Amino acid sequence: MAGFNTERVLSVHHWTDNLFSFRTTRDPGFRFKNGHFIMIGLEVEGRPLMRAYSIASPNHEDTLEFFSIKVPDGPLTSRLQNINEGDQIIISRKPTGTLVLDHLLPGRNLYLLSTGTGLAPFISIIQDPETYEQYDKVILTHGCRHVRELAYQDMITRELPNHEYLGEDVREKLIYYPTVTREPFHTQGRLTDLMESGKLFEDIGLPAFDLEQDRFMLCGSPSMLKDFCQVLDSRGFKEARHGDLGHYVIERAFVEK
Ligand code: A2P
Repeated sequence: MAGFNTERVLSVHHWTDNLFSFRTTRDPGFRFKNGHFIMIGLEVEGRPLMRAYSIASPNHEDTLEFFSIKVPDGPLTSRLQNINEGDQIIISRKPTGTLVLDHLLPGRNLYLLSTGTGLAPFISIIQDPETYEQYDKVILTHGCRHVRELAYQDMITRELPNHEYLGEDVREKLIYYPTVTREPFHTQGRLTDLMESGKLFEDIGLPAFDLEQDRFMLCGSPSMLKDFCQVLDSRGFKEARHGDLGHYVIERAFVEK
């Protein structure tokens, strides 16, 4: 199919009844920036059925990883959730997106603010050595309804700190801040509230909302993005737009699939 590569599924991991991730082969000529998204899909009745997905793997790996919700009556995910090793996936050749390091003004602390599958692009970004070259602290947040939805925890807290090349940077700079809203957990509440009340900053030991030093990347539902933009705008932070660098960048987590 023109404009698309056909890749093979290498592995599938089901996190919960409604979340899964999978890994595919990667065309050696396919290039992307960490944080980018791309159209992926399946051939259905002879036609490509495609949706936007953030790439969860870093661009130095020779395979691709995606993190997805399962929507029971979703045209794509109702099918995609049944993929198995060896199946074929169609992947467009044109990655794009705003969640990239070079859209942000220089700063000291990079906040990666995510809810639900909005975590995906940040899994790529926390595996990019450039992230740690540019920032002293990288704060990865993940807000979910339930504890079981906190995907990638083991990788973030165990694998990456012991990684051969990234381990030292991760141990020194990466702060993981998961939070849950609908059952007991050591950190509870919406990320917006935890930041506005100052609790998040107290918990991680950094100053609250420092215009000079804090940079933000946001990925979540439209309502999460809207509320976060208000929180940041009201404190003078500016979104990067139209090629101008800014204090923050946003991308919608592509959920209704
Ligand atoms: P809550 O349980 O209070 O709705 P969803 O699955 O609906 O996208 O939610 C994922 C997580 O994001 C949940 O913890 C949810 O909290 C939280 N959330 C939903 N809307 C917002 C928002 N406007 N601002 C911050 N967090 C939000």
